Amino acid sequence: MSAKPDVMGFFDEDTATWSYVVWDDSAVAKPCAIIDSVLDYEPNAGRTSTRSADRIIDFISKNQLSTDWILETHIHADHLTASAYLKEKIGGKTAISRHILKVIETWEPVFNNGEDTPRDGSQFDKLFNDDEEFMVGTMSAKIFHTPGHTPADTTYIIGDALFVGDTIFLPDVGTGRCDFPGGSAADSYESTRKIFSLPDDTRLFVGHDYPAGRAPASMTTVGEQKKSNLRVHQGIGRDEFIAKRQHDDTGKPVPKLLLPSIQVNLRAGNFGKKVNDVHYVKIPVDKI
Ligand SMILES: [Fe+2]
Repeated sequence: MSAKPDVMGFFDEDTATWSYVVWDDSAVAKPCAIIDSVLDYEPNAGRTSTRSADRIIDFISKNQLSTDWILETHIHADHLTASAYLKEKIGGKTAISRHILKVIETWEPVFNNGEDTPRDGSQFDKLFNDDEEFMVGTMSAKIFHTPGHTPADTTYIIGDALFVGDTIFLPDVGTGRCDFPGGSAADSYESTRKIFSLPDDTRLFVGHDYPAGRAPASMTTVGEQKKSNLRVHQGIGRDEFIAKRQHDDTGKPVPKLLLPSIQVNLRAGNFGKKVNDVHYVKIPVDKI
């Protein structure tokens, strides 16, 4: 097994999302995992496009990779996952943390979605337990639970690479907001400390980038984060972090794609049952 897997990032300009393909180039079959894919969605027209997902499919096919896993770091509120589309086109098992059961429970009264969004999470092929180990081909991988941004955020460790979702961003950007249901600034702080307990040279790949005055980037190291993350570097204490996080999250606008994203992502990327041969997105009024 390679301790240093290859990683390719794909940046979606519309939602500032990084999706990743991670694979072991030394293995014969080149098995890979896809992390946090994007299904493009134009909300005014209710129109989807697979432009972003097709870039990933092209890359996988050109490099002759085989897809083992289609992973989510959490239930995203700012973009729709392309996991269902990717699974249909190139196979692979969809997976997420078992803690999404709490997220399903939270949103059920909002969307009244019991009919097409199973409470037991069986719409995903696999629900990971905390600290569960798994394989990407011959590479050992592990999850650890890093709540805060949402109660179900997960960091994937594959070889020397961490995929942290929105737990922590690049040093000059900071950390993910904690004002979604079940989010917690205190949990976010503890989660970053868990990440900081890993070796300094561990590569860390972020779920978004919101750069000011530089090109979008995706990677840093644990050591760099400890030294210079503007919100949570090692010199910042728990209370200071929580106070600033809560202050900055107060009155933050709802993400543009929150309502379509949550309901589709809780179905592992599906739009649910068609009515009149049409997929519909529910927009609850005065509920959030
Ligand atoms: Fe997020």
